[in-house]
Amino acid sequence: MRKILINGNKRLAGEVRISGSKNAALAILAATILLPGKTIIRNVPDLLDIKTIIRVLQRLGLRAEYSASQENTVEIWNRGVKHVAPYELVTKMRASFFVIGPILARQGLAKIPLPGGCAIGSRPVNLHIKGLEALGAKVRIEHGFVIAEAAGLKGDRVYLDFPSVGATESVMMAAALAAGETIIENAAGEPEIVDLANFLNLAGAKITGAGTEEIRIQGVKELSPVEYRVIPDRIEAGTFILAVAITKGEALIRDIVPEHIESVVRKLKETGLEIEMLAKDLRVSAKNGFKAVDLKTMPHPGFPTDMQPQFCSFLSLAQGTSVITETVFENRFMCVHELRRMGAEIKLEGQSAIITGVPELSSAPIKVSDLRAGAALVIAGLAAKGETLIEDRDHHIERGYEKLIYKLRSLGADIKEV
Ligand code: UD1
Repeated sequence: MRKILINGNKRLAGEVRISGSKNAALAILAATILLPGKTIIRNVPDLLDIKTIIRVLQRLGLRAEYSASQENTVEIWNRGVKHVAPYELVTKMRASFFVIGPILARQGLAKIPLPGGCAIGSRPVNLHIKGLEALGAKVRIEHGFVIAEAAGLKGDRVYLDFPSVGATESVMMAAALAAGETIIENAAGEPEIVDLANFLNLAGAKITGAGTEEIRIQGVKELSPVEYRVIPDRIEAGTFILAVAITKGEALIRDIVPEHIESVVRKLKETGLEIEMLAKDLRVSAKNGFKAVDLKTMPHPGFPTDMQPQFCSFLSLAQGTSVITETVFENRFMCVHELRRMGAEIKLEGQSAIITGVPELSSAPIKVSDLRAGAALVIAGLAAKGETLIEDRDHHIERGYEKLIYKLRSLGADIKEV
């Protein structure tokens, strides 16, 4: 079990570099199944989830090696892929399920365990299945596995009832090698989708419209191996901005893509934070405090659900009352109960949290339920008076934040693993 001890109420200052995007890297690594030969992916964050997808690729018969010393690079040698994904890895990390599209496209058969629910909601895969069926796959569920078969995938129109990130990625990867044209309607437009499309296009795919709600994929016969660099992690960037801001600090957040964090920055400016956008960096200052705002999570370009728990912590110390409404996941206020134990005043009403700002938070022993809740509690601990002990039994925080403790210490935080 991992425990993190924070001696809070210290102003953060300095600069921090943002790592590569976890979610983009996960999708791109899954997509290497489509590319025969040797592919090199750079700027892949050194995280538990990345280790998991690398193990999935290895169990599928690919050779995949991670090197943190050389620009966080993964080298993949693909000489063919097996069609069964390992149960213990897919149930450990839901994104492992996204290999279903590329395996089906390469092998005509994919047998992938159903990932099941998780702390933030039931998270079904019906839209992935609907998309693959539209491309001609026959899909059945047997003994806890999703089995998809297709003698040859054929492009068609796919309408997603919700712009699911994972389903858009599964269908895009499968359609890259399908015969003819696939049109994904109501597609997700997250920057990670655009990064996956850029990667596939570099490898020879013909994908247009990524980042909009209609993506067109003209299938090609085969893709070729490439070298590619993953985009910076916009959620890590947002998390660090809040970590600095909640301590009334001031810092330079380096290696970001400003357009990727527009909706978050807009909200932060509404709170009164001073934010200066530079070409690839951002300067934040919270010296003059911050006030309450209302926000609602939405698919991109709306406010990202992956930043919502961190805002719950931050707004707990804002002047006034904020209302946060979650529309993407049904159970994503897991950190609220722990925040209340630290003195936050938060009422839950349906899918909304009503947060009345308090002058200070106080330390408490607290438990982490999921990745972003973990980040939220670290943020709260940085501002709280006294020693906050965070128990992260399942290593959730390591799933998504590269060198979090090291980076926060470099900004002056008193934080350590115990
Ligand atoms: C991805 C991100 C995750 C982020 C989420 C929403 C990765 C690895 N993870 O997750 O960090 O929080 O996008 O931005 O990229 N849904 C269905 N049926 C499906 C698929 C999804 O009903 O087949 C629902 C989900 O239950 C959820 C909503 O759609 O309520 C959004 O989920 P989705 O966009 O698919 O999230 P993920 O791709 O799993």
